[in-house]
Amino acid sequence: MKHFLDINTTDPADLRSMLDEAHRIKKARAGKPKGTPDAEAALADHVVALIFEKPSTRTRVSFDVGVRQMGGETLVLSGSEMQLGHGESIPDTARVLSRYVDLIMIRTFEESALQELADFASVPVINGLTNRSHPCQIMADILTFEEHRGAISGKKIVWLGDGNNVCASFIQAAGQLGFDLTFTGPERLDPEAEFVEEARGKGSKIEIERDPVKAVDGADLVVTDTWVSMHDALSTRERRHNMLRPYQVNDELMEAAGKDALFMHCLPAHRGEEVTDKVMDGPQSVVFDEAENRLHAQKAVMRWCLGQ
Ligand code: CP
Ligand code: NVA
Repeated sequence: MKHFLDINTTDPADLRSMLDEAHRIKKARAGKPKGTPDAEAALADHVVALIFEKPSTRTRVSFDVGVRQMGGETLVLSGSEMQLGHGESIPDTARVLSRYVDLIMIRTFEESALQELADFASVPVINGLTNRSHPCQIMADILTFEEHRGAISGKKIVWLGDGNNVCASFIQAAGQLGFDLTFTGPERLDPEAEFVEEARGKGSKIEIERDPVKAVDGADLVVTDTWVSMHDALSTRERRHNMLRPYQVNDELMEAAGKDALFMHCLPAHRGEEVTDKVMDGPQSVVFDEAENRLHAQKAVMRWCLGQ
């Protein structure tokens, strides 16, 4: 069973072949209306369940449209409206859904819930974000980087702000695909040491630098994320904003990074907080290519899960 649960648990050669496949899939449908079916109809006769226990715009729409373009059907399910949200166990949910659908994508809170679903499902499971990781996002980010700048191996990525889920998947990708990553943010929001050590052990340079201006020196890519994630208590908002304010991506910071550095954000962005309007809409920003690439990258992920 090929589940897509995390970047660090997926073979680097498989990650590479999914990225190459995503490039090919994107090129093949360039300029066509969004409803045009893909030539291959790779998901013909397949049903995909998309389960959301947290809000989503990109993940929901890109998976739904992607499956349709591949000739399949989707069921978009909200965790709270399922029996899952009313006491039915994850193992039972996994076993039941596996009798109806060919593939399950889930966005949930705890990583243990994702793992349990995968353990008990007899169809592939895809991680659509947990509190700890967001692997589909990073596949799209690397696809985007490579479209603009060529191979990511050996490049320097600088992450600003909160070292949580999206950052964790980026650090895992550094180890798997051979690039370097500098994290700059407040110590309380450092990425998990386990992920940092793992990527270092695979030969990547993972640095922690508290000074954001120093951190971005020589960056090929500057990335940030929201200051308050979906799993963070709203009561922590003010404290988090105070800690993170020095790490806003603005003109001065992009100038320190240099004009060749790209800017990415997984979105949704909170303009005026972690990033200014000028950077979001400026010439170095590729955030909307990045959002589009969720569609193409996830098609390659789904095909890989199904052994295609
Ligand atoms: N980047 C991302 O996963 O966006 P959504 O929360 O809108 O799915
Ligand atoms: N870190 C953010 C990412 C949203 C796509 C969150 O978990 O809310």
